[in-house]
Amino acid sequence: MSRRPIIAGNWKMHNNKAQAKELIEGILAGIKDLDADKMPEVVVAPTYTALWQVHDLIKNEPKIALSAQNVSQFAKGAYTGEISIDMLADFGVKFVIIGHSERRQMFNETDEAINEKAKAILDAGLIPIICCGETLEQREAGVTDSHIEGQITKALANLTADEVIKSVIAYEPIWAIGTGKSCDAVEANRTIGEIRKVVAKLYSQDVADKIRILYGGSVKPSTIVEQMAQPEIDGGLIGGASLEAESFVALVKGAM
Ligand code: PGA
Repeated sequence: MSRRPIIAGNWKMHNNKAQAKELIEGILAGIKDLDADKMPEVVVAPTYTALWQVHDLIKNEPKIALSAQNVSQFAKGAYTGEISIDMLADFGVKFVIIGHSERRQMFNETDEAINEKAKAILDAGLIPIICCGETLEQREAGVTDSHIEGQITKALANLTADEVIKSVIAYEPIWAIGTGKSCDAVEANRTIGEIRKVVAKLYSQDVADKIRILYGGSVKPSTIVEQMAQPEIDGGLIGGASLEAESFVALVKGAM
């Protein structure tokens, strides 16, 4: 089963206009000569305020696609401070990250809201990158797999098989995010295999074989080759190491 890998950079709340421009220009220069047929799908997720500028800078470069870091589950209306999927589609956005642990933990994003967001994204023809992952306490208590099964089951509720095939899941153990301590590649592979079993149980083996599942959590140029060598891992969702063009391009090359 061949699934095209994804290397996605989540810029989080970094980069003003000038910094976003410098970073994207560095990435574009770094991937310019890479063989498009061998490249992973390269995705960058700037802040909302940098989306238009980054869109403008990459619009003639098919090697790179745009993601948002969040979206409202509501179509329009009196939702101060929110951004709708229609607005993101206008900006040439292809992917939307939802359910990131930072949003779940700090901004009270619920499983129900994540499911509604997934539906809104898919209805608009865009692709959700649905994040899941356990805390250190959950891992130590041995409830990692059941916790993730709950998150995935709720996130995918009422989605069709075709919608799930189009979607992307990112397994991001919370204790590995921004800590420099990446999850052991073999263990990340095992957990992602468990996520595939959940998808197979909810849908079918065919759907489980087709959905792309990424690993995220302190992915670095020094870890990517081993991570990509794992059969279940289809790429990376990268925070810190996506903020420098040199390391992000090294991650892209590491996935080729
Ligand atoms: P990190 O972040 O690469 O800085 O650990 C990953 C993420 O939160 O997606």
